[in-house]
Amino acid sequence: MKALILAGGKGTRLRPITYSIAKQLVPVANKPVIEYGIEAIRETGIEEFGFIVGDAEADIRAALGDGSRWNARFTYIRQEAPLGLAHAVATAREFLGESRFIVFLGDNLVKGGITELVDEFRHGSADASILLCEVPNPQEFGVAEIEGERVVRLVEKPKEPKSNFALVGVYLFTPKIFEAIEGLQPSFRGEYEITDAIQGLIDRGCDVRFRIVTGWWKDTGTVEAMLDANRLLLSDLVPDCKGVVRESQIEGAVQIGEGSLIERSTIRGPVVLGAGCVVRDAFVGPFTSIADDCTIEGSELEYSIVMHGSSLLHLAHRVSGSLIGRGVVVESRAGAPRVTRLVLGDHSSVQLP
Ligand code: G1P
Repeated sequence: MKALILAGGKGTRLRPITYSIAKQLVPVANKPVIEYGIEAIRETGIEEFGFIVGDAEADIRAALGDGSRWNARFTYIRQEAPLGLAHAVATAREFLGESRFIVFLGDNLVKGGITELVDEFRHGSADASILLCEVPNPQEFGVAEIEGERVVRLVEKPKEPKSNFALVGVYLFTPKIFEAIEGLQPSFRGEYEITDAIQGLIDRGCDVRFRIVTGWWKDTGTVEAMLDANRLLLSDLVPDCKGVVRESQIEGAVQIGEGSLIERSTIRGPVVLGAGCVVRDAFVGPFTSIADDCTIEGSELEYSIVMHGSSLLHLAHRVSGSLIGRGVVVESRAGAPRVTRLVLGDHSSVQLP
C-alpha cells in the first residue's frame, strides 16, 4: 500500500500564521502537526509516501526531506490550484498507480492510531473504508449515514445532518476511486469533494466500510482547534529535564530541553519547553508548548503555543489562549494584571503600555 498526505490548501482560517508557515508545519507539543500523521502511517508498515503540496512546497520539502528520517520514501506532487480533496487525489494518480492507498489530511490529528483500519482494509475486500468520529457539529464536516457494517450515504457539510458521524480526514481506497472522481462536478464551495466521490462509489454498488475513532480526532484548521490539540497531546507528556533549574518550582509533567535555563520561576505542567530557552521570573502554566530559543521573562503564560525564537518580556497581563509565530517579540513595561489574548504572525512586534 502507498500513502498520500494532503498538504496543499492555504490555511486561511489560521492567518496570519499561515502567511509565513504552512499549517501542516505548525508545531503542536513542539512537533509539526504533519509528523504525527507520518508516524501513524509508518506504524502500519507503509513506506511509500506521496505529499500533495501547493505554494508551501519548498517549506514542506525542507522540513520533511526524502523520508529517510522515518525510514520511508517521500515523493512531492504539486497541485497547481487547491480545487478540492478529490482533485488532489486525481493529481497523484501516476504516483499511486494500481496500488491500494490511504489518504490522510496533513492537518488532522488522530489519537488511537489507524493501524487496525489499514490492516482490515489491506486484507479485506472492501472498495473503500473511512474513519468516522461522532461530533456535536456535524454540519461543519462531511457526514456519513451507516447501516450495519456499511456506509450508505455521504453528504459534504449538510445543512440538516442525518447523523453525527463526521468524516475524519483518513480514507482508504482502491484505484476504483479514480473512476468516481472523473464524473464529479464542483460542489457548492467550488471544490471537487472526496465525499462526493465516495458517494459515487456507493452509487456504483461498491462496498464502502467504516471504523469509528477510538481515541480523539482534531482537524487543526483553526487557532482554537490547534490549542485544543496541543492540550490533548500534552496530556500524555512524559516529564524530562535536560536544562538547568534554579530557585524554581516545577510541578507536574514538564519537559525541558537541552541548554534551557529556568530561574526564579514556576512551571506548572503539562508544559514542553524546547532547547536553549530562558524562563526567568516567570510563570508558565498548564498546556503550553514553547519551541527552541525562546525567552519568557517577567511574564505569565498559559494554554498557548510559542514558536521558535520568540520572546515575552515583562508583560503585565497573563498571556492565555495564544498562538505566537517565529521571531516574535512581545514586550511591556507596566500595567494592571488583565488577560491578554494574542494571535500573532511570524516576526510581529507588540509594544504594550
Ligand atoms: C474536509 C472534508 C470533510 C471532512 C474534513 C475533515 O473538510 O471535505 O468531509 O470532514 O475535511 O477534517 P474541509 O477541511 O476541507 O472543510
